Amino acid sequence: MGDRTEIPKIIVTPPGPKAKEILERDKEVISPSYVRFYPLVVDRAEGSLVHDVDGNIYIDLNSGLAVMNVGHKHPKVMEAAKRQMEKLVHYSNTDFFYEPSVKLAEKLVEIAPGSSKRRVYFGNSGAEAVEAALKLSRWHTRRQYIIAFIGAFHGRTYGAVSLTASKPVQRRYFSPLLPSIIHVPYPYAYRCPFGTKDPEECAQRTIEFIEEWVLSKYTPPEEVAAIFFEPIQGEGGYIVPPDNFFLELRKLADRYGILLVDDEVQAGMGRTGKWWAIEHWGVEPDIVTSAKALGSGFPIGAAIAKDEVMDWEGGSHASTFGGNPVSCAAGLASISVIEEEKLLDRASRLGNEVIKRLKELQERSRIVGDVRGKGFMIGVELVKDKATKKPAEKEAREVMIRTWRSGVAVITAGKSVIRIAPPLNIPEEYLNRALSILEEKVREVESEL
Ligand SMILES: Cc1ncc(COP(=O)(O)O)c(C=O)c1O
Repeated sequence: MGDRTEIPKIIVTPPGPKAKEILERDKEVISPSYVRFYPLVVDRAEGSLVHDVDGNIYIDLNSGLAVMNVGHKHPKVMEAAKRQMEKLVHYSNTDFFYEPSVKLAEKLVEIAPGSSKRRVYFGNSGAEAVEAALKLSRWHTRRQYIIAFIGAFHGRTYGAVSLTASKPVQRRYFSPLLPSIIHVPYPYAYRCPFGTKDPEECAQRTIEFIEEWVLSKYTPPEEVAAIFFEPIQGEGGYIVPPDNFFLELRKLADRYGILLVDDEVQAGMGRTGKWWAIEHWGVEPDIVTSAKALGSGFPIGAAIAKDEVMDWEGGSHASTFGGNPVSCAAGLASISVIEEEKLLDRASRLGNEVIKRLKELQERSRIVGDVRGKGFMIGVELVKDKATKKPAEKEAREVMIRTWRSGVAVITAGKSVIRIAPPLNIPEEYLNRALSILEEKVREVESEL
């Protein structure tokens, strides 16, 4: 890697000439529906560093969108995938058997939250994991309604997008979506939809809203199959719910025989300093979904359900590529790396330090309204001013772009939240340097207001 003190390294203002050429070609042939935060054209990546096609080197605070929790191209993951590739790349696990999927499922069952016996359905993505959880919830309960939260992101296929509710663009002109999906407010304590400033009261009011308004006025509770939630809302803005929320949600679900589906596609696989974010609140969900970091970049998704819930019949749901053996081998290796390198403890410890540092920035800053997170899933919400809390959308974008141009790949979530989600094994010197650059850009943008 050469001299580490030179990292990040910007040798040409991005996008450079090679990037521009690829961007032009991309514009001609790639679907315009993608999000694209800024014109970063990646050539290669290793550990916590991303190289663009013009030779610039960035510190990665995105982990390739919460996927590379063990860093890019971890040697143990690469080795496991290569070894598997030499033996078997595909043989349709929905129709036949092989060991890599069994091994990964055994491991997932072992680390799943709670003590219940579980089994695993494998797909290829987060959305497919959510689709499986959705169909399974209905199949198992024979009930039709699903409750999901405003601000949620569960994916973009028809079932998953019917649960998603974080930006109108995700749904515009796609309706009619799946019927019988009810959206309710999420306890976003910094902007509580019920107007209270007290986080615990915000959570309580959310539970009451579901029970006393939704389930008492128009949705027969005995027809509700499941409540889908993100333990920390991701795309919605890295929103951590109040401490009492999930315990109360579990009690509410149990009162009516409703399943709890915990979407850990972004927050899981160690990101928050525990295998699953829901473990921070000691609540056992009925179904857990995982994808993103599960395969360290090799596509895989999983729905991990209690044994008694995953009772659907042969032929009811499957996918040709689901549980691809190479992805399963990469998944198993990723879990081993997190265990061997003690990355859960590391993410907790360093995440707390990052939060402390950013809270100091918040105190000095006029535009940092809130800093929140668990482990390495940290949100910094920018506001026009701290009294009105008006989201500083333009400013957040400006901070993101300037930080990137200075060599730190970071993106936003929600309206104006900078999200910090580095690989769990990012070297401390890179982490500190990236944070210094981010802080400098916040101060710079603020000083221009
Ligand atoms: C919480 C959550 N669920 C589901 C998804 C969808 O995953 P995928 O893009 O792999 O379909 C995402 C993607 O960002 C996510 O963050």
